[in-house]
Amino acid sequence: MLGERVIGFIGAGNMAEAMIRGLVTTGTVVPARIIVTNRENRERLARLSWQYNIFTTPSKAELLARANVVILAVKPKDIPEVLEAIRDLARPDQVVISVAAGVPLARLEGALPKISVVRTMPNLATSVAASVTAMTYGSQVRGEDRAVARALFEALGRVVEVSEELMDAITALAGSGPAYVYRMMEAMTEAGANLGLPGDIALLLAAETVFGAAKLVRETGEDPRTLRQRVTSPGGTTMAGLQVLEERGFSTTLVEAIARAALRAKELAGGT
Ligand SMILES: NC(=O)c1ccc[n+]([C@@H]2O[C@H](COP(=O)([O-])OP(=O)(O)OC[C@H]3O[C@@H](n4cnc5c(N)ncnc54)[C@H](OP(=O)(O)O)[C@@H]3O)[C@@H](O)[C@H]2O)c1
Repeated sequence: MLGERVIGFIGAGNMAEAMIRGLVTTGTVVPARIIVTNRENRERLARLSWQYNIFTTPSKAELLARANVVILAVKPKDIPEVLEAIRDLARPDQVVISVAAGVPLARLEGALPKISVVRTMPNLATSVAASVTAMTYGSQVRGEDRAVARALFEALGRVVEVSEELMDAITALAGSGPAYVYRMMEAMTEAGANLGLPGDIALLLAAETVFGAAKLVRETGEDPRTLRQRVTSPGGTTMAGLQVLEERGFSTTLVEAIARAALRAKELAGGT
């Protein structure tokens, strides 16, 4: 679906690199069809160019002239400046995709009224093609634009298409989600070390346990509750551990954390 299209990134930070790495390592886009720009960090552009064999440019005009798909990968606070810079450069035959948390379609379309714009929320696992990306489409997006945007993110993991009002919840759950899981893995590793396991083995056990548990949910289609009940024998070790988690409010704390993150996404969208 992506064919001969050139993919341009405005912003060359963590998210852009994660996507570039995912696109290049999966062979979805040949490096010569990727072009990247940023604001001022030329060393970073040189490193990306050297590492992934992609094109870089200090000029948004050059990027907009060459790219068929333009990805806005700057912080939400920098989006207005970027929109201002590209409003007279973007063309109706291009698709502009934002990955910025909390930036509404209305703001993107306000600056780029005749352009197909797509709002997305991927996560850093795009770099290993294991993201889950939520997508919502602007009013100018036609069938082919939609297919192109979707193909790009399907190459980097799973995709869910949602209405825009769900994006803050998705940002809180899946955009910020990897950090919650990393926090849990840190604690699991620490617990293993406290019990005498070598640090590297404790980390391997934590990582593979999280991976295996998620894989089982994904591949069997069984819900986590059923799987949890199956591994929890009355009076057994798992039950002893789960009891402590629940006495200390593990699930309610996580529910509250995700609700707080969603609120923060809303605040950011409002510019506070
Ligand atoms: N990181 C995540 O896990 C994650 C997950 C989902 C979505 N996102 C979204 O991804 C976006 C980027 O996040 P990040 O973590 O990649 O940020 P980052 O590492 O701070 O990178 C931001 C990039 O934007 C560039 N930039 C800033 N202003 C610019 C301008 N006016 N013109 C051109 N480039 C400009 C910066 O260039 P200089 O370095 O030269 O200033 C830098 O390359 C954010 O909107 C975030 O909400 C991130």
